[in-house]
Amino acid sequence: MTTPIAQWKAEYETGNTLVDQQHQSIFSIINALHSATVAGQGADLLEQTIQSVRDYTTVHFDTEEQYMRNQGYAGYADHKRKHDALRAKFTAFETQSYPDIQQHTIMVSHFLTTWLIQHIQNDDQVMIAACRSSAQPVAEVVGPAVPQALAEIAQWRPEYETGYTLIDDQHRSLFHAINALHSAILAGRGGELLERTLKILESYTTIHFETEERFMAELHYPEAADHTAKHRALRQKVEAFIAEEAQTPSRRLALRVSRFLTEWLIHHIRDEDQRMIDFLRQTRRQQQTLTAKAERP
Ligand SMILES: [Fe+2]
Ligand SMILES: [Fe+2]
Ligand SMILES: [Fe+2]
Repeated sequence: MTTPIAQWKAEYETGNTLVDQQHQSIFSIINALHSATVAGQGADLLEQTIQSVRDYTTVHFDTEEQYMRNQGYAGYADHKRKHDALRAKFTAFETQSYPDIQQHTIMVSHFLTTWLIQHIQNDDQVMIAACRSSAQPVAEVVGPAVPQALAEIAQWRPEYETGYTLIDDQHRSLFHAINALHSAILAGRGGELLERTLKILESYTTIHFETEERFMAELHYPEAADHTAKHRALRQKVEAFIAEEAQTPSRRLALRVSRFLTEWLIHHIRDEDQRMIDFLRQTRRQQQTLTAKAERP
């Protein structure tokens, strides 16, 4: 079991639902990246995951910056400078070449976790509190009090846990990405954020499906073909959403996407993924028993 590197705590909350959900999504993607590293996933997968952390952080910074502008926040320039410094850091991560991708990934996960926690506590909480108390007549673009029940379309439940940390972390990240999209819709930014969220979801589901498909291939899972076909169908559906969004972006489409993805994921996790993980564990147990027997004098 991998311990999450980025542990979410109540004290990190800013009180703004959209911002808090996006922060949690970033934490969740960092955890997925970290458990992928610990599980010894390949360089391609790690690089893609680092990219999705970067994409998601960028979406999040854009959200906060637009909010600060709309609120006429006095600390805007200073806050944005800090975001820009992290954006530059991401570019630096990319342009350098790393002989050891595992080592690099661990460094990125630690760096980001520390950066985020400090930034949330020193800057984001101050900014949200200041914007809320200011008497600006401008409506809060990032909704001030979206009820939690409404904001979270994809609620994570313990029963969705497969017990396999890498897979569970990836599923949780997908849930968070859907929630962030959904709360953006409620805040009236769904159409605008839909394209980018869809792209993130596309690359994130690809990474996740690749992880699962690799497991199935390694273990000669008898239902692999069927399971993979379901993944393929979802990928096509996401591509179709992206195409539709390019033609006619709308809040209604954003809502349809978040509902569809939530339902699909819950069904798929509880049914197909759980079966696959049960098989995986059973096979590993059998292999361990065999190895133990072979090693006995
Ligand atoms: Fe920020
Ligand atoms: Fe799956
Ligand atoms: Fe899955």
